[in-house]
Amino acid sequence: MKNIHFDLIDSTNAYLKREYTSLDSFTFVDASFQTSGKGREDRKWISNNNENLLFSFLIKDKILLQSFKKLSIGIAIIISKYLETLGLSPTIKWPNDIFVGDKKICGILLEGNINEYVAIGVGLNVNQNEFPNDLHHPATSMRIESKKEFSISELKNQLFIYIEKMIKNLNQIDVQDYLLTHNYLLNKKVMINNVIGIVSGISFDNRLEITIDKKKLLFDSGEVNIL
Ligand code: BTN
Repeated sequence: MKNIHFDLIDSTNAYLKREYTSLDSFTFVDASFQTSGKGREDRKWISNNNENLLFSFLIKDKILLQSFKKLSIGIAIIISKYLETLGLSPTIKWPNDIFVGDKKICGILLEGNINEYVAIGVGLNVNQNEFPNDLHHPATSMRIESKKEFSISELKNQLFIYIEKMIKNLNQIDVQDYLLTHNYLLNKKVMINNVIGIVSGISFDNRLEITIDKKKLLFDSGEVNIL
């Protein structure tokens, strides 16, 4: 595991997208502050300076790239499991957000091209106490949930080692088993791609399963709105 730290950068994902040819798999890049932090669906990821964990890591191994779908849900499961070791009770909101209660604690953004590399970007709310109230999802942090402050440097060292170990054993993670008990959307009424139904599960290849009039439909991607 190699770790590059920046006090200030545009975006750790953007850095890996620029530099991936000269970096090894499992290079972790983190920053205290990002000037152009990027979220999914072209949203911004805004985070106070030095209060949260903002990082991206690079995957270039062909075998892992071939299991891209599992990687996407797998990284959410890995971080969720890590948070459980710290006494939190997270759930996963498909496709790969992590929630505690009804608030988002962690967002994940995968970018790249699956023939060459993927940059996995993670924004984990750690010590931030207050969040703007115009966010797409209400937010929380590890500090708010556990009522204690964390050392960002200790946390990142532990988490990076944990992620590398767990990703190398990705095939041992039983996605469906974990999501039976950690699926934030399960049994909720949602709208996705203009279809309304009840979430009844996640398929083995990370598609959202919705039930409408006893018929099951699977969705690869799309914005999920809870009704
Ligand atoms: C989302 O939930 O919309 C995904 C958020 C991903 C944010 C992280 S912060 C570190 C990395 N660099 C970025 O610009 N984005 C990701």
